[in-house]
Amino acid sequence: MRILVTGGTGYIGSQICVDLLEMGFEVVIVDNLSNSSINIVTKIEKITGKKIDFIHADITNKMELEVVFRSFQIDRVIHLAGVKSVNDSINNPLDYYSENILGTIILLDVMKKYHVNKIIFSSSATVYGIPKEVPIKEEAKLETRNPYGLTKLAIEQLLGALAQSNENLSIVILRYFNPIGAHESGEIGEKPQSIPNNLMPFITQVASGERAYLQVFGDNYNTPDGTGIRDYIHVADLSKGHIKALQYLDNHSGCEIFNLGSGSGYSVFEIIEAFQLENNIILEYEVVGKRDGDVASCVADISKAQQVLEWAPTKTIEEMCRDSWRWQQMSSQENSMKRALEKE
Ligand SMILES: NC(=O)c1ccc[n+]([C@@H]2O[C@H](COP(=O)([O-])OP(=O)(O)OC[C@H]3O[C@@H](n4cnc5c(N)ncnc54)[C@H](O)[C@@H]3O)[C@@H](O)[C@H]2O)c1
Repeated sequence: MRILVTGGTGYIGSQICVDLLEMGFEVVIVDNLSNSSINIVTKIEKITGKKIDFIHADITNKMELEVVFRSFQIDRVIHLAGVKSVNDSINNPLDYYSENILGTIILLDVMKKYHVNKIIFSSSATVYGIPKEVPIKEEAKLETRNPYGLTKLAIEQLLGALAQSNENLSIVILRYFNPIGAHESGEIGEKPQSIPNNLMPFITQVASGERAYLQVFGDNYNTPDGTGIRDYIHVADLSKGHIKALQYLDNHSGCEIFNLGSGSGYSVFEIIEAFQLENNIILEYEVVGKRDGDVASCVADISKAQQVLEWAPTKTIEEMCRDSWRWQQMSSQENSMKRALEKE
């Protein structure tokens, strides 16, 4: 069976591609490399010892996508391609609506033309906005206000309507909470192009000396230590959730939504503490003002994914901290070797 992974050279997509290849699936990646690099294809092949088909294409370009669907018999799609920063989306809403919504519409249109009926879509816990109850269940009220979240919500609604209009479609929407960690080989992980928006890449960049200190956004939330609580999930566990969702697609039609998180919440101070202890590193940090739109606590109720998909996260917060740091160290080493070679 051949899976098309859009955004497959990205942080989460590359982990999924490794798991798919290791499970014996054939994989085609479509990525425009706007937030990743072609080296990732070599890394995926190195980890798995298997070949992968990579197509440098943009999902907003219908002609490019059609070439992919004509060239390969695609059986299922895992759709991750898109832009993902809440802050950036506030400044560039047009880009977000175009990349995420238009890109998805074009992809769905091409899938329809080539009779591909099964898709997994990467959504986000951001669709819950300020949750009324924590842990958050899938049926909680959705009330996101930032353009990024609104694009995810619009796509979710479109997918729901499509499933109602055509009973042959099988759609799974996965709402990710806070993916961190990296592949245990240290070869692939999260590489933000600019200042990280998320806590863990910020921490690892401070630990490696790339940034002087960590900014902790607010310490007067209504939480035990005053800092924001999030549900961190190891990217390897998140990836396994996609494999389970693929199996679910085989036997179900319609559109189903699942939270993917660890089901446990950690505060910013707890994560700093865990990272320091696990990796024997002291992190410099400074508490600064709250960021607009940040909520006190956001933790998933994962019972639906556990029961229906028969999926469960397995990695501890210590493993997440260790794997993130291993990845950052290997990545920094690789960068300095590259710079040295360029100077020669
Ligand atoms: N990382 C998170 O914290 C998080 C949380 C919730 C949801 N998500 C969603 O998961 C998906 C993957 O996230 P990620 O963290 O791996 O991000 P990422 O930026 O590492 O990966 C996305 C990939 O999509 C590619 N891409 C972007 N626009 C494209 C386009 N128009 N055509 C083709 N390729 C394009 C990028 O080059 C990149 O390789 C995204 O849809 C994101 O919104 C991520």
